[in-house]
Amino acid sequence: MSIIITIKLVGAFLAVLAVAIPILGLRERVPKGFSNGCRLRIFMVLVKMMLAVGWLLERVHMLSIIYVTNLILRIISRMEPEKRKGRAKDTQFGGVVVRVYTPNLSAENKDGLYPGMVFYHGGGWAIGNTWIYDDFVLPIVNAVDIVVVSVEYRLAPKFKYPIPLDDCLAATKYFMKNASKFNVDPNRIAICGDSAGGNLAAAVCLKLRDEKFKPMPKLQVLIYPVLQSVDFALPSMIQNADGPLLTTYWLTYYTSLYATGSLKYAQAMCENRHVEEATRKQLFDTYVNHDMLDMTYRSPPYRKPDMKGGDVEVWKNLKNVLLDPYFSPLLCNNLTGLPQTFIYAAKYDVLRDEAILYAKRLKLYGVDVSYVVDEHALHGMCSFRHFFPKDSYNALNRISKFLKENL
Ligand SMILES: *[C@@H]1O[C@H](CO)[C@@H](O)[C@H](O)[C@H]1NC(C)=O
Ligand SMILES: *[C@@H]1O[C@H](CO)[C@@H](O)[C@H](O)[C@H]1NC(C)=O
Ligand SMILES: *[C@@H]1O[C@H](CO)[C@@H](O)[C@H](O)[C@H]1NC(C)=O
Repeated sequence: MSIIITIKLVGAFLAVLAVAIPILGLRERVPKGFSNGCRLRIFMVLVKMMLAVGWLLERVHMLSIIYVTNLILRIISRMEPEKRKGRAKDTQFGGVVVRVYTPNLSAENKDGLYPGMVFYHGGGWAIGNTWIYDDFVLPIVNAVDIVVVSVEYRLAPKFKYPIPLDDCLAATKYFMKNASKFNVDPNRIAICGDSAGGNLAAAVCLKLRDEKFKPMPKLQVLIYPVLQSVDFALPSMIQNADGPLLTTYWLTYYTSLYATGSLKYAQAMCENRHVEEATRKQLFDTYVNHDMLDMTYRSPPYRKPDMKGGDVEVWKNLKNVLLDPYFSPLLCNNLTGLPQTFIYAAKYDVLRDEAILYAKRLKLYGVDVSYVVDEHALHGMCSFRHFFPKDSYNALNRISKFLKENL
């Protein structure tokens, strides 16, 4: 192909983009009070284009959409290595890859021991890596003066439940038992994760409690976590079904990959008919009781769901994993003895309501729990600090403040 034709093609492509981005961007929903709507629109168009490329490659059976997403994230995460130099080190804890961040050593540190935190990144248990979370973790390291271990757990669909959780648990125990080697006080360690990582954090705390691990983590910090997968018709899932950033469709897509290693049940979950009727009624009355949410969160287009029409066959295949409290921490029947908890939820997030319900259940069992539903926040925004600097810093500051005051 001649240079001229190539230039013309590239030019035509850029022209199409220049027209398409504003048009598509204007159709994106921007939540009230979000500080930078214009950036959100551009960001969403770029995400959708990336997904479209992934979808196309998947359709022609070349590469899966998960593979393409991970490839792009890996390329981005390898950019700008200079500024990370010296702050983070990749190593292994008993066979599990981890990234260890050390605080600014010139800062004041009286007794020589730092607090510590184990972090599990988000990405639907299937995408993301520790490197791409440098921008999330480093502000916390700097603000709190803390040693952070970010776990490179293996990902679904290749490694489905419980392998990602087992990796997190193994790395966490290794760090907690060997804390002094990292100048960390084993009595001052927090467990933290965002989104799917928040699910892993809650599950790790339940596991450590059930195994009577000593000392228990001092805090658990759950940032817009996934806490259950039996009900995809909570008010927040109806109100924010189309995002931004996380949609109910993608939530069920990732949940199916984590639970089964396949997309076999994603559609049944998305239509919320994956739980048989009797169980659904019983869960609605107990663990996922919509009536426990404030009226303000139950506004239209939400309506109380119809309990009929659950698929018995689908449920037979899913119930063991979906009812497992290490998969769905909200369904744990006894939350006694869990560490002090901070839950950060975003108002414009499909996962908002399960965060509120988990906070209420923890309180019922006497756990010292506090939570915020951030009025201007979106799911996942802390991971995109360059796009949404103001909003993501607000959230990270809140999280750092809690750690500073309580760890
Ligand atoms: C490290 O701490 C010192 C003293 O508090 C401060 O001046 C410096 O900017 C910090 N460096 C980083 C990278 O945060
Ligand atoms: C602590 O570290 C040692 C290696 O230094 C390792 O053999 C041991 O398994 C670790 N402890 C735990 C509980 O993982
Ligand atoms: C929950 O577990 C704790 C500790 O194992 C126990 O003391 C308590 O009775 C249990 N509560 C309920 C309601 O089962």
